[in-house]
Amino acid sequence: MKQNNQTTIMNFQNIAIMTSGGDSPGMNMTVISLIKFLYSNNIRCKVIYEGIRGLLNNQIVDFDYDKFYEYTDYVFLSGTFIKSSRVPEFKEERFINKAINNLKKHQIDLLIVIGGDGSYHAAYDLMKKQINVICLPATIDNDVASSELSIGYLSALDLILNNIYAIRNTAKSFNSFCLIEVMGRDCNDLSINSTIATFADGIITKQNPWTINDFINKIKYLKSINKNYGLFIVTEKFYGTNNLPTYHELVEGIEKEINVHIKFDSIGYAQRGAKPNVVELINANKMAKYTVSCILRNLKNIAIVWKNNQLDYLTLSEAMKIKKENNIKEIDYLNYLAELNYHK
Ligand code: F6P
Repeated sequence: MKQNNQTTIMNFQNIAIMTSGGDSPGMNMTVISLIKFLYSNNIRCKVIYEGIRGLLNNQIVDFDYDKFYEYTDYVFLSGTFIKSSRVPEFKEERFINKAINNLKKHQIDLLIVIGGDGSYHAAYDLMKKQINVICLPATIDNDVASSELSIGYLSALDLILNNIYAIRNTAKSFNSFCLIEVMGRDCNDLSINSTIATFADGIITKQNPWTINDFINKIKYLKSINKNYGLFIVTEKFYGTNNLPTYHELVEGIEKEINVHIKFDSIGYAQRGAKPNVVELINANKMAKYTVSCILRNLKNIAIVWKNNQLDYLTLSEAMKIKKENNIKEIDYLNYLAELNYHK
């Protein structure tokens, strides 16, 4: 790899990179591009293996530049070669202090955290204790409120689309109505945009809950307009929680009242392991380049954001104040059903 001849006056001597929380397609490209752009600016860095867990276990190592080109094989792959983890108890003071001790042992003066909403909170906790951080949005959930786009979201959406395409074919042939669960945790972006992109017949989220009767009425309506199959997209962690019916109970409950085939499918972890699409790969590379340009300007405690298709940054404190809207109003197109005088 080539380095610049220029010497940069930089405040940071020891930068560490980590991926945190649910892995997402494009994380590998983000990490490898960061390493490359830093190196071309004469900055060597360390990586933290296994995210927050690795930070607590002191898995902080110098990146092996002799193997750089072997690592570039990973850019096309989903997941994260430096691995990731979730440590929900990290908010406890004793864990934050342990992480800080380990960072100090390695004299890390800038920590780059690549992850979703939970990872931003962890980075923010560290920042409040004088650790310099930069956060980059990467999660299939797209739940980082400060950024319109997170690395991984579009590839996961592609995978959902391919699955719905396939499910739709069999549903149509068999006259069945399918409940399809997608991920997203508390964020509805995957369900909203997969509903829009597939012209599905309904979306069910915490903000738009459906009862067994709602399904029955909707199916009756669809059949009355000669649509004998249907697709209903459900955000995960809804049915089967808080005394709501499980999918099994929903299927049974609907089939008992109305003579139709109901099927349930959860797309599951394949969404996380989706192949990064070309937009994702290019975006991840651009985001890494932009991040390095911020580092060269000695910026710290910032969150990198996508806004109107452009890269920008906010202070992490500003970014943390922004709350994600979980609005399903965007799917107004479903009003075509309202036009036909149907209400849920
Ligand atoms: O954060 C990404 C995500 O895929 C969420 O959509 C999902 O709720 C969660 O991870 C599931 O992962 P885990 O089982 O690791 O909590």
